Amino acid sequence: MSLLSVCIFLTSTLTVVSTQYIPPYTEECRTGMYPPQGPTFKGAVTLYTVDLDLPPSKRWTALMTDKKDEMSSMIKVIKDLADAFVPSGKLIEFVDAFLPLIVDTLPYPFNEELKGIASATGVPLGEVALFNLFYEVFTVCTSIVAEDPDGNLIHGRNLDFGLFLGWDVKNKTWAITEKLRPLVVNVDFQRGNHTVFKSTALAGYVGMLTGMKPHSFSLTVNERFSLNGGYIGIIEWLMHHRDAMWMGFLTRSVLENATSYEEAKAVLSTTKLLAPVYFILGGNQTGQGCIITRARKDNLKPLELNSKQGRWYLLQTNYDHWKKPLFLDDRRTPGMKCMNQTLQSNISWKSLYDVLSTKPVLNKLTTYTTLMDVSNGKLESFVRDCPSPCMPW
Ligand SMILES: *[C@@H]1O[C@H](CO)[C@@H](O)[C@H](O)[C@H]1NC(C)=O
Ligand SMILES: *[C@@H]1O[C@H](CO)[C@@H](O)[C@H](O)[C@H]1NC(C)=O
Ligand SMILES: *[C@@H]1O[C@H](CO)[C@@H](O)[C@H](O)[C@H]1NC(C)=O
Ligand SMILES: *[C@@H]1O[C@H](CO)[C@@H](O)[C@H](O)[C@H]1NC(C)=O
Ligand SMILES: *[C@@H]1O[C@H](CO)[C@@H](O)[C@H](O)[C@H]1NC(C)=O
Repeated sequence: MSLLSVCIFLTSTLTVVSTQYIPPYTEECRTGMYPPQGPTFKGAVTLYTVDLDLPPSKRWTALMTDKKDEMSSMIKVIKDLADAFVPSGKLIEFVDAFLPLIVDTLPYPFNEELKGIASATGVPLGEVALFNLFYEVFTVCTSIVAEDPDGNLIHGRNLDFGLFLGWDVKNKTWAITEKLRPLVVNVDFQRGNHTVFKSTALAGYVGMLTGMKPHSFSLTVNERFSLNGGYIGIIEWLMHHRDAMWMGFLTRSVLENATSYEEAKAVLSTTKLLAPVYFILGGNQTGQGCIITRARKDNLKPLELNSKQGRWYLLQTNYDHWKKPLFLDDRRTPGMKCMNQTLQSNISWKSLYDVLSTKPVLNKLTTYTTLMDVSNGKLESFVRDCPSPCMPW
């Protein structure tokens, strides 16, 4: 499987899918969507506790015992896609033989946690590892951090996952996205029976894409596409060049260990990464919100909230804030239009949910919506769907 064939595969998928959908399904800004109801709401998310005082190999046992079947069903779709891509089952043979060796190169406690997940679910270790690597490269999303008139910060995000992964022409759904929805869980990570941080997680994935340390900071991650992207960092890792950090492990350790917005910001801005990414960070007081646009080493054009300059919110999709989004995938303009229309005087938990419920900010890849309010320690998330007509991404 060469990079060239990956590109041709992705480009042809994009073309097939997009020609069915031009012009994009953009709608008027939604209102009155909260409390969640109707066809775009597929259910509340179950809350689990993960006890960080347990040995890493035992932490996920209870949760993964519950989600065993859902995880197996997800892995089966990944295998079917791999078989369609490289027929003969050779790709998965490679995964089963080779990826378990990678697990031992991953930093503690993540290596042990992956082994614990494999033994709780019966999914082969190599496939658990594959499942974890997936998120380093296939997540597209929208994140918004906004300051209300009282200087209180609200942070919301849609997680859109599964782009290019098995478009079902008849059902107009993405195979992976469909299988991911049942894996969405809220997790309260505790030590000594006290919350260390809360997150919306994907059962089986030990990294964090969405989380909050109550009264301190909130964090979301969006994919950043780049030529010097995830593949190169992962290949370097395989070639024993291991001074960079996996994105999901970095966010998880920041949520576990950082004690303030400033500390989280410093670590996320400077740690060398395997792949480029956007971090959207909110704090617990006025002015504390930023977009950290990461190259593997550098932090490019940091952007901060500044109410005095009229920047009372930051909205990040999957394009650098100083560049135009790809014309086929502009979720930024509709999202900003709705934020602007809402006005700072009217921004709230409810109105942020409205923005995140407006197409194409809400699209066929949208797996969940999470809202976080750091000051009162509240995190809510909802499984989402976008029945047709709706943009595929
Ligand atoms: C398509 O949708 C139908 C009805 O909801 C379902 O039974 C079928 O399994 C779906 N196909 C795929 C490939 O998901
Ligand atoms: C946490 O609570 C459980 C029961 O609620 C108790 O058995 C356990 O000892 C507590 N652990 C700690 C570290 O306080
Ligand atoms: C904000 O966070 C800092 C660092 O965690 C903490 O010292 C401070 O008390 C927090 N302020 C509020 C209002 O929660
Ligand atoms: C929203 O408002 C900001 C700040 O006034 C402005 O820069 C931006 O162009 C507006 N965007 C849209 C889509 O209305
Ligand atoms: C502000 O919110 C109130 C109450 O939810 C609503 O009645 C009003 O129409 C909103 N105003 C704008 C400009 O959105």
